[in-house]
Amino acid sequence: MCGIFGYFGPKKNATDMVVEGLKKLEYRGYDSWGIAYKTSNDIIIHKQVGKIGEAQITFGELEDAEEQIAIGHSRWATHGGVTQENAHPHFSEDKDVVLAHNGIFENYVELKEELLKKGHTFTSETDSEVLVHLIEDEMKTSNFLEATKKALSYVEGRYATLIICKSENMIIASRRGSPLIIGTTKDNKEFFIASDIPAFLKYTNQVNYLDDNELVAIDNTGARFINLISGEEIKKRNVEIQWVEESAEKGDFKYFMLKEIMEQKETLYRALNQEKDLIEKVADAIKNAFGTYIIGCGTAGKVCMAAEYMFSTIAKKHVNTAFGSEFPNYHHFLTDRSLVIAVSQSGETADTLEALEIAKSKGAKIISIVNVETSTMARMSDIVLPIKAGPEKAVASTKATTSQLAILMLLAYAVADKLADGKSLLIDATAQINDMINPRYEEHIRKIAEVIKDTESMYIIGRASNYPIALECAIKLQEVSYIHAEGFAGGELKHGPIALISKGTPCIALIANDDTKKSMLSNAKEVQARGGLIIGIAPERDPVFDYWIRVPDVGNASPIVNIIPVQILAYHLALLRSNNPDMPRNLAKSVTVK
Ligand code: F6R
Repeated sequence: MCGIFGYFGPKKNATDMVVEGLKKLEYRGYDSWGIAYKTSNDIIIHKQVGKIGEAQITFGELEDAEEQIAIGHSRWATHGGVTQENAHPHFSEDKDVVLAHNGIFENYVELKEELLKKGHTFTSETDSEVLVHLIEDEMKTSNFLEATKKALSYVEGRYATLIICKSENMIIASRRGSPLIIGTTKDNKEFFIASDIPAFLKYTNQVNYLDDNELVAIDNTGARFINLISGEEIKKRNVEIQWVEESAEKGDFKYFMLKEIMEQKETLYRALNQEKDLIEKVADAIKNAFGTYIIGCGTAGKVCMAAEYMFSTIAKKHVNTAFGSEFPNYHHFLTDRSLVIAVSQSGETADTLEALEIAKSKGAKIISIVNVETSTMARMSDIVLPIKAGPEKAVASTKATTSQLAILMLLAYAVADKLADGKSLLIDATAQINDMINPRYEEHIRKIAEVIKDTESMYIIGRASNYPIALECAIKLQEVSYIHAEGFAGGELKHGPIALISKGTPCIALIANDDTKKSMLSNAKEVQARGGLIIGIAPERDPVFDYWIRVPDVGNASPIVNIIPVQILAYHLALLRSNNPDMPRNLAKSVTVK
């Protein structure tokens, strides 16, 4: 949530670089944006409401100083509406210090009250602005760096900050809970500080991760890393990132969402290409744990629910699942023999991170299945299973979802001591997906989208592992088409929700060729008898389907193939309803607030 980007170095076009970096971070928040840059004796702030990707603005070259300093922010509003005043960066009252912040200062109300009593006046409704006032106060007796350290010790909550000051040529970045990565050129003269690596990958692939309670002060002597708790300087190791910049670009596709849906032909193979030893090590951990919890949020949470069915069917083993935000309520059951598996694309979701922190405090073993291998979640885990989907930029998760499902299914087979069987099933399913997603298939689904594009509500039903997939389909449809969509277990409809079906209400039935098929077809008939329009996603046509979308018959891997046509449907519904599928309203890619 919120993207921040800073530049320190010799390039005169620092401002344009910050704008370019923010555009790459726009998926993290896109209701308003702003940039601050230093001139020889001042700091200029420009901010505006709207998406930075649509802004037609260039700032031009900065003054002929040795180093240039600029910071920027793309916002996803939490505290205070979407206004120019609430957009970041924020000035201190004396206009000496400027801050960009991602996260939430949870004690900002108390801090603000104290500052107001001292006579401070605020220009925004944000929680963030308190920090810059605190620094201003501390600078009455300390230098910029010491004042910032002191002010940070007063704030509670999660944050990643970029701070600059009129009187010193320095950027101070700090972190607790929200991601922040420092990119450095090989000559150690240029620094990029961003919420995510693709924002600066064009300039360098050499990075340092800022960990929680760390600060970095960057000036013309280089970068100094400081532990905010001990106050000591720390040495950081440079890490080389292997991603190529192009993989984070749209290429020939108009939107990332379609590009990422289409990439599933390859990303699934990559997900399956896990080291056998690593999969077996995780399977052993599951077998030996005294209670395994699989946790995630949103789409990843639905993947976890699907895993519960997979482990039950394939491994005859019960695993517990919970949403990250609900998991803390289970802490009473955790011991040092518990195993917690986090599932996440970004590895930065605050709710999941908080759940892991609680699990860790109880001594539980932590395993993560993440896409961003260098994320906070990965770095706090005992074992990491990488999803290997490459950067996922569209807000709606697609390729990461199917890869997570595939890895969890491999694990279920490994727990059943049938890893080879699982792998060959999934390789076969991937080959069939490769044949399935072609332009004709997409066009067939687009035509169905045309039929239902004006509906107010739609429903998705599934049984067993396709029930969580029905819930996931609903998320996909809601977030990009803005149609009211809800998923149900096939058998549950008749216990209430069937009252919602009227003439022409679309209902997607997710059907697997297994022992749930007959009941699912009966449920579809019940909906049709009330006037519902049935879209069947199934290996075989059935007379109950008004529209049929064929999927390959892949046995236990059915949840993986069944989600893909709904991803395509959601994408086309978004376009037909004039929505931007990559940047749905009110959402952001990485939810780093609780
Ligand atoms: C929906 C979606 C979200 C994420 C959720 C967790 O398409 O992408 O529901 O799944 O915010 O994010 P990660 O996987 O990054 O932890």
